[in-house]
Amino acid sequence: MLHKISVLFGTLIIGVISQPVMAHEEILAEFNNEARVANPAFRGFSATQGETFFRQKHGGEWACVSCHTDNPAASGKHAKTGKIIQPLAPAANPERFTNPAKVAKWFKRNCNDVLGRACSAQEKGDVLSYLLAIKN
Ligand code: HEC
Repeated sequence: MLHKISVLFGTLIIGVISQPVMAHEEILAEFNNEARVANPAFRGFSATQGETFFRQKHGGEWACVSCHTDNPAASGKHAKTGKIIQPLAPAANPERFTNPAKVAKWFKRNCNDVLGRACSAQEKGDVLSYLLAIKN
């Protein structure tokens, strides 16, 4: 019996660790904490700044809109492979920004492709604020 219970708990814990599901707001709150640590003068996120950041090129060939289009509530298309990318705005695609590992992986890869470096917590929070402000 005890063994069964511990197996059950083990499975439960592994399930929780391997599939952490978070609300968009929790992920935004994490960026907020990160930004505050990185910059004591941090004054919150800006959806407007996030939109500008998302549309602009940052010295390279691509902007975020190159693959996600300038309407994140619509499907995008990979600039290189032509593969369809599901909408990035949570209003259009509720799975977005619910898996912290996925969010971290793709911010890392895409920021590197677009900026040649990692995005700061401010930049990530601004972009997420912009995407959350989009109503379908
Ligand atoms: C070269 C194409 C390309 C560019 C440019 C690009 N992305 Fe992406 N992005 C992808 C692909 C491919 C995925 C993963 C497939 C998917 O999730 O649909 C993805 C996924 C993401 C995700 C994952 C979100 C989630 O929770 O599922 C985020 C966040 C993201 N991109 C942000 C950005 C930002 C910010 C920029 C600009 C700095 C950017 N992307 C530029 C192709 C691109």
